[in-house]
Amino acid sequence: MIFDRNGKKEVIALLGAGSMGTAIVRRIAAGRKILLGDISEKNLERAAHDFRYSGYDVETMIVNALEKDSIEAFAQKASSLGTVKYFIDTAGASPNQAKPEHILALDMVGTGYAVDAFGKVMANGGAGLIVSSQTGYMYPIPYETELEILGTPTEKLMDLPIIKEVAMQRSGLAYMIAKRVNQLQAQKAAATTWKERRARINTISPGVIVTPLAYDEFAAAGEGYQQMVDASAAERCGTSDEIAEAGAFLLGEHAGFITGTDLLIDGGVIAAIRTGTYKLHG
Ligand SMILES: NC(=O)c1ccc[n+]([C@@H]2O[C@H](COP(=O)([O-])OP(=O)(O)OC[C@H]3O[C@@H](n4cnc5c(N)ncnc54)[C@H](O)[C@@H]3O)[C@@H](O)[C@H]2O)c1
Repeated sequence: MIFDRNGKKEVIALLGAGSMGTAIVRRIAAGRKILLGDISEKNLERAAHDFRYSGYDVETMIVNALEKDSIEAFAQKASSLGTVKYFIDTAGASPNQAKPEHILALDMVGTGYAVDAFGKVMANGGAGLIVSSQTGYMYPIPYETELEILGTPTEKLMDLPIIKEVAMQRSGLAYMIAKRVNQLQAQKAAATTWKERRARINTISPGVIVTPLAYDEFAAAGEGYQQMVDASAAERCGTSDEIAEAGAFLLGEHAGFITGTDLLIDGGVIAAIRTGTYKLHG
């Protein structure tokens, strides 16, 4: 049975075939080709199976988002499949999953390489979405330092004083800073490489979303997470589908005037922290 006779389909590339990423892709994938990249063969198989048996056209590729060459090969593969209309990056490790070096190499540098690599293959009118985090709002970085980050190429980010002297101290700090850097990376690309290709790029900063990654955080962080969620206006955790709804909007044509920005979707956690309703520990 041939489900779809259309050739030359637009390509959606997803780096990190986890909970949020696959939920976003599902909303925009009808009639398009999906390319999934992940370091975990198991995650790739599971996601590809779900897509395939729901009627979508999907291919997979093992990609290590810690390695520039692997990311570039992924971008090339996407390009070889057709016009690359969408790129979504959700590959990441959370504070309780890894040491500062790993978090910075993956969530910050790896994301930078992905934004750089896809900045060479995106279609005119294409769109990208990087999944950052509410934690990107938790450690305010001085304005001058942010300008320094914006002016630093991806391969030199690890040499910046804020990374060597602050972020490397502990995983929580590494994660907060890496996620703020993600927002800056999208801003920079929106104004430079992606602009040149007439493609848009934004970040979403989710709050606590129930996914396998979040389960690891709950197990290690204990009461802190519960108190933070309880203090928020929503008084609950979020779901990948809620992030996907916003993601589909930002990637879609109704968001044609939106680029280089971040959308915080946290149920009000950052509002609670900034107003002192909730005091962040540690
Ligand atoms: N779940 C939350 O509460 C939450 C909140 C804010 C931000 N985030 C961020 O959202 C993103 C997606 O997380 P999720 O909750 O959907 O988690 P998830 O665990 O479902 O997905 C993450 C995926 O990244 C993949 N991955 C990990 N290391 C990789 C590597 N080196 N190369 C390629 N792929 C790799 C994993 O195999 C996994 O499939 C992450 O960047 C995370 O930091 C999550």
